Amino acid sequence: MIINDARFLTSNSRADLCPAPTMPEYAFIGRSNVGKSSLINMLTGRNGLAKTSSSPGKTQLINHFVINDKWFLVDLPGYGYAKVSKVSRAEWARMINYYLRHRPNLMCVFVLIDSRHSPQAVDLEFMEKLGEEGIPFVMVFTKADKQSTSQTKALLADYLKKMGESWDELPRHFLTSAETGLGRDEVLNFIADVNQQ
Ligand code: GTP
Ligand code: MG
Repeated sequence: MIINDARFLTSNSRADLCPAPTMPEYAFIGRSNVGKSSLINMLTGRNGLAKTSSSPGKTQLINHFVINDKWFLVDLPGYGYAKVSKVSRAEWARMINYYLRHRPNLMCVFVLIDSRHSPQAVDLEFMEKLGEEGIPFVMVFTKADKQSTSQTKALLADYLKKMGESWDELPRHFLTSAETGLGRDEVLNFIADVNQQ
């Protein structure tokens, strides 16, 4: 898919204030600092479109971007950041749960996972919840450039083995790097395919 146009549209704290659900929507979620905003910039080829930061907790709201005037990309705040208070955590959960249940145009959630890490309960639980609620999702293993290909392969195999313990059918997964552009075509082709369904 060629990205001709990518624009920031709105930031909202509530799903009912988000843009009218007139186009297919794809949301990026995962632990704080996993690289959600960076991946949006890599996919759209526009550095600085989504705000990134080396310190976790940068993205705080539901951010809508319009791509090619045909679909929405959504950058969500991350979860699992240790320094966040219980109250903020509960607010995050309320905002995200409401968002996930109230976007009829949400075609797929991209759950981002740092490709260097072994399976973390917070991610596994989040994906289980998506499964229980029947919300379609795929996994994206990020920051592949941070270690060797053989290390990534081994970590990915371990991760998928762990997933296999609770999933009959493994979710589709992608391997990406916002630094090298790895996985860009695969993710964009996937979105193009879903847009056509
Ligand atoms: P929050 O908005 O805080 O939840 O974080 P986020 O998931 O949006 O992460 P963000 O894109 O802001 O990236 C966090 C840090 O990781 C930044 O310092 C990025 O430069 C770095 N980063 C993100 N993706 C990659 C990648 O693929 N490779 C490398 N080497 N660094 C990355
Ligand atoms: Mg972010």
